[in-house]
Amino acid sequence: MSFEVPVVHTVAEMRAFVRDRRARGERVGLVPTMGALHAGHLSLIEEARRHADRVVTTIFVNPTQFGPSEDFSRYPRTLPADCEKLASVAADLVFAPAVEEMYPPGFCTTVSLEGCAKAELEDHFRPTHFVGVATVVAKLLNQAQADVAVFGEKDYQQLLVIHAMARDLDIPTRIIGSPTLRDPDGLAMSSRNVYLSPQDRARAPALFRALSEAARRIAEGEVVGHVMGEAREAIVGAGFDIDYVEARHAETLARVARRQDGPIRILAAARLGATRLIDNVAVPTA
Ligand code: PAF
Repeated sequence: MSFEVPVVHTVAEMRAFVRDRRARGERVGLVPTMGALHAGHLSLIEEARRHADRVVTTIFVNPTQFGPSEDFSRYPRTLPADCEKLASVAADLVFAPAVEEMYPPGFCTTVSLEGCAKAELEDHFRPTHFVGVATVVAKLLNQAQADVAVFGEKDYQQLLVIHAMARDLDIPTRIIGSPTLRDPDGLAMSSRNVYLSPQDRARAPALFRALSEAARRIAEGEVVGHVMGEAREAIVGAGFDIDYVEARHAETLARVARRQDGPIRILAAARLGATRLIDNVAVPTA
């Protein structure tokens, strides 16, 4: 017998589900996504299940986090296939609102951000992105009132922005980061990998290789600036156009000059043709 995950489209239905489960003493986990689900997303659901009895997955391609020249209209929308994948991990509910449900006429409030949202990383290249992300995530957290919410470490700056936003706005849901899932050759799983041509897909793992090599060398005590310069050369040599490849403090995203300034995270965004890949790795600590 095949299992189907119930899908609801309104805030009221989703909130009623969570309220009902919590009233029975169950813990509820929320996994916000934009759909086009892959194994990386399913690992977020599994992580949520480690902390909760029920898992609600949201699928909403949030228009406000895309810039005018970005891929909002062509972003993959695959709700039926997503629901099948969610059934395979026995997710409990899918919340798939329409744009009008999330942004009804008269909507006029956004979250204003400083700190790690202004680190000159993603924010420099996508200036309106994090306001869109933080606003929609604040809405989803308030709508669901779940016990925990899980986000991937792949979008590392986003994870820090969401942590800070939930802390600063006293949102009681606990925010949990979950490690990046990778293809066997190291490429971080992403819904946008479908945009890669076969040639670019073959080149793409060079990004993770360069970041991993840089992390290893910094951990061994080599000078951060020198190592990062060579990492950038390797990435350009593999055919990428770099937006940024930076070693930063893992909690504040402040610039770091020496291993002792850490914990350090190396973060990158680089383009292969029209496809922009982002990735990050931790510098191992002794
Ligand atoms: O990481 C994502 O998929 C999105 O930015 C999120 C957190 C679901 C908000 O739209």
